[in-house]
This record gives sequence, C-alpha cells and structure tokens, in this order.
Amino acid sequence: MTVTDATSPYEQLKADLGYLQLGRAAECFATVADQAKAEGWSHVEFLARVVAEQAAATTNRRLAARLRYARFPYRRSIEEFDFDFQPSIDRKLLADLATLRFIGEGRSIAFLGQPGCGKTHLAVALATLAVEAGYRGYFTTADDMVVALGRARVEGTWAAKLRTYTAPSVLVVDDVGLLPMARDAAGSFFHVINHRYEKHAPTLVTTNRSLPGWGEIFGDEVVAGAVLDRILHRCVVFNIRGPSWRMREHQALAEAARRPDDDPPTPGGGGRRGR
Ligand SMILES: Nc1ncnc2c1ncn2[C@@H]1O[C@H](COP(=O)(O)OP(=O)(O)OP(=O)(O)O)[C@@H](O)[C@H]1O
Ligand SMILES: [Mg+2]
Repeated sequence: MTVTDATSPYEQLKADLGYLQLGRAAECFATVADQAKAEGWSHVEFLARVVAEQAAATTNRRLAARLRYARFPYRRSIEEFDFDFQPSIDRKLLADLATLRFIGEGRSIAFLGQPGCGKTHLAVALATLAVEAGYRGYFTTADDMVVALGRARVEGTWAAKLRTYTAPSVLVVDDVGLLPMARDAAGSFFHVINHRYEKHAPTLVTTNRSLPGWGEIFGDEVVAGAVLDRILHRCVVFNIRGPSWRMREHQALAEAARRPDDDPPTPGGGGRRGR
C-alpha cells in the first residue's frame, strides 16, 4: 500500500480496509462515524460498531458459502414440517436432534419410509441446522456418490473424491436402495460409511427399503451387514409409517370420491397447509 501525503484519512482508511478485504467496514465506517459524532459515542464504541458490522457480514458470507457447498436439494426447516400429518415421528426426539448434540456424539440418523413421507425434508432440515451452526455439511444421493467414486477410481482421483464424502461433519446420503448397486459401487459405499464411522462423523441416510431388505441393495449380505452394523451403531432410526405428503391432495379427492354425497373437495383439503 502506498499513500501520498495528499491522501485524506478518509481515503486512506477506505483503501486500507479494502486492502485488508474488510469490505463491509470500508462501506459503513463513514456513516457510522457520522452517527458516532451526532450521538457522542466514544472511540471504542465507534470501532466496536464498525467491527461488529464487518463480523456480521463475514459470518453471513461464510454461511452462504457453506450452504452452497452443501448442495442441499432444497431449503427446508423443522418448523416447516407438519408433525400432525406424520404422527409416527417422535417430535421430542427430533427436537433433541435439533440441538445438534448428535454431531459431537457421532450418532448417525436413518430415515425409513415410503415415498413422500418427509425423509429428505427432515434430513435436510437437520443438516441445514448443522451448517448454520458452523459445521460443514454435504448432501448427495447414494447413486451420485457411488458413480462419482467409481469415476474417480478410473481417473486416479479416488483419494480426493473420497474426502468429499468423509471430510464434512455431517453427510446426508439420500435414497439408499433406490437402485441396486454393483459390487464396486457397494464397496465404495462401504468405504465412505466405514471411514465416517471410524472418525465418529454422523451420516444421515434416507431409504424407502426396510433394513432387512438392504442385502438386495448391495447384492451381498456380507457387505450389507457390514454397512448396517456401522450405520446402526449409536444410530437414531425414524421408521416413518404414514402417508405421502405429495399425495395428500389426491387422497382428499379419493376420499371425497368414496363419499359421493359430500361437497366436492378443495385442493389441499383436510385442513393441511398447502405447499
Ligand atoms: N409432514 C410434512 N410437512 C410439511 N411438508 C412435508 C411433510 N412431509 C413431506 N413434506 C414435503 O413434501 C415433499 C416430499 O417430501 P420428501 O422430499 O421429504 O419425501 P421423501 O420421504 O424423501 O420421499 P422420496 O422417498 O420420494 O424421496 C417435500 O417438499 C417436503 O418438504
Ligand atoms: Mg427423498
């Protein structure tokens, strides 16, 4: 940084803050200085306000970067989840998980249930809380993960790709068992789960297969057993037995069709929130 004698303190401060990449401070210090003068703040009060503005901006920028990195398929929160629609879910247990203690305890979470019952919603909501709290999160489907690892093996980038799935504090592996896996793919899947298990890093899995059906997914009972053993150790399992949220409007129509004397149903009927 070179500054000539002719540079005013205002210009110099702006240039220095820019050089130090303190963009928000550079942007706001003049306005805050005016306010400080008008309200008779001490120098420390003025500085504290400018630094607080910068700290908030940095926090928000880092959070946005972590959220982009996580690749969540959508933004969902626990508050948005209608528990009355899905009474088989233990909401106290979910509230306890929302404290994020499960991360320190290395406790994985499995969401089991039929399509549309809210598995991905809840996994994403918990992982989002973790990212908001400063943890690194990552979302993948099981198929995308094993395909990416298979490709990395061929291209000689296996170790780096493996870190994509093992480094995050919280990994969501969505739709386990949607498609059966070839032997190599099952091996890759095991590798990720085992690595995370050994470093006590929680994995959130969703599946619409029952756990005994996992042998078919991996094409091998031994691999399936090894994977399950690691996921289920210290795991919280939500076995969601309930209807599909996606189908709720169709259900209202179907129910009304069975009761022909009733008034025609309104979309999203049944008093549920529309989405
Ligand atoms: N109880 C609920 N309250 C509010 N929204 C819900 C509820 N259950 C599901 N949804 C919404 O319905 C849609 C489907 O839910 P989700 O993606 O979680 O289904 P899923 O169980 O993962 O199904 P699939 O096995 O097909 O992937 C999402 O938009 C989700 O936010
Ligand atoms: Mg899903």
